[in-house]
Amino acid sequence: MSSPLVDGFGRIHRDLRISVTDRCDFRCDYCMPEEGLEWLERSEILTFEEIEQVARICVERLGVESIRLTGGEPTVRAGLVDLVGRLSTLDVDLALTTNGARLASMAEPLRAAGLRRVNISLDTLQPDRFERITRRDRLEDVLAGIDAAIGVGLDPVKVNCVVVRGVNDDEVVDLATFGRDRNITVRFIEFMPLDAAGNWDRSSVVGLNEIVSRIHQVHPLEPSTRGHQPASRFRYLDGRGEVGVIPSVTAPFCGDCDRLRLTADGELRACLFSTEGTDLRPWLRPEESDSGQGPDRGHGGLDDQLEAEVRRVVAGKWAGHGISRVDFVRPRRSMSQIGG
Ligand code: 5AD
Ligand code: SF4
Repeated sequence: MSSPLVDGFGRIHRDLRISVTDRCDFRCDYCMPEEGLEWLERSEILTFEEIEQVARICVERLGVESIRLTGGEPTVRAGLVDLVGRLSTLDVDLALTTNGARLASMAEPLRAAGLRRVNISLDTLQPDRFERITRRDRLEDVLAGIDAAIGVGLDPVKVNCVVVRGVNDDEVVDLATFGRDRNITVRFIEFMPLDAAGNWDRSSVVGLNEIVSRIHQVHPLEPSTRGHQPASRFRYLDGRGEVGVIPSVTAPFCGDCDRLRLTADGELRACLFSTEGTDLRPWLRPEESDSGQGPDRGHGGLDDQLEAEVRRVVAGKWAGHGISRVDFVRPRRSMSQIGG
């Protein structure tokens, strides 16, 4: 490795999130409309070779230590297990974020291919509510997926729960109990302004303090260390594990952020809230670039230029997302189009 991936505020970037598809088999109300979104064309999506090329440069030259595959829903991309196999040859901690619906059958092959950890989204334990939130009747499949992930030894298995006021905030304690019973960490995520429908408003956010105090009343908690993770962590006083809250809105972790994102169509974004991405495809597909505009092939090779481009994007990263500022501008892409 030449030198670490550092931005203008001294933050060293070690975590790369790769979205492998913008598509999803769910339609979570806080993420996409019933009819879905306008999906990317197949030809726009990076191939496994292209993803591997970016990942390799980030790991071998830029000091990236962890890679998380996201979507949309990553398990709907054909061949995901093969991609995991390719990336597992890199010296990197490999993780997946999924809605869990296909994990019952995929957990074992994914683990065998080299996946280490998994985050599974679960916003409710009530079947009718699950169907209302996701517009799919798949709660049983997701629960089976969580059990399969635990069963095959993916470690850690974490559950992500987006809390939306008036939708599922009355289930915070039940979901925390669900995690305690299975000895897995549940992480409650504050609702962020990244929904395609644009329904977000401040009053629908349930903040860190409220979430923690609700749980604490039933299962007493104490703060645990925060480290580089975005989650504020809390330990159950009876020793039954931990719970986390990702307070993106009320207590942003921008100052500690070490993340970089690659979208399914090859845009690099230094922040989830970046309003623009940097297209890496000219360096990955030089044959598609016009001769005048494309990268300079004669100079040090395309890998060197890709490396320089990644460094440039990180160097230009802003200090924070500014959700609470009056001049905050939402990214035009939703969470599913950027990658969680
Ligand atoms: N706010 C917070 N979390 C969100 N997710 C998707 N959209 C939003 C949003 N607007 C979550 C998903 C999943 C993870 C990738 O991001 O539920 O757990
Ligand atoms: Fe799909 Fe995840 Fe969006 Fe739900 S939140 S629709 S599971 S991408």
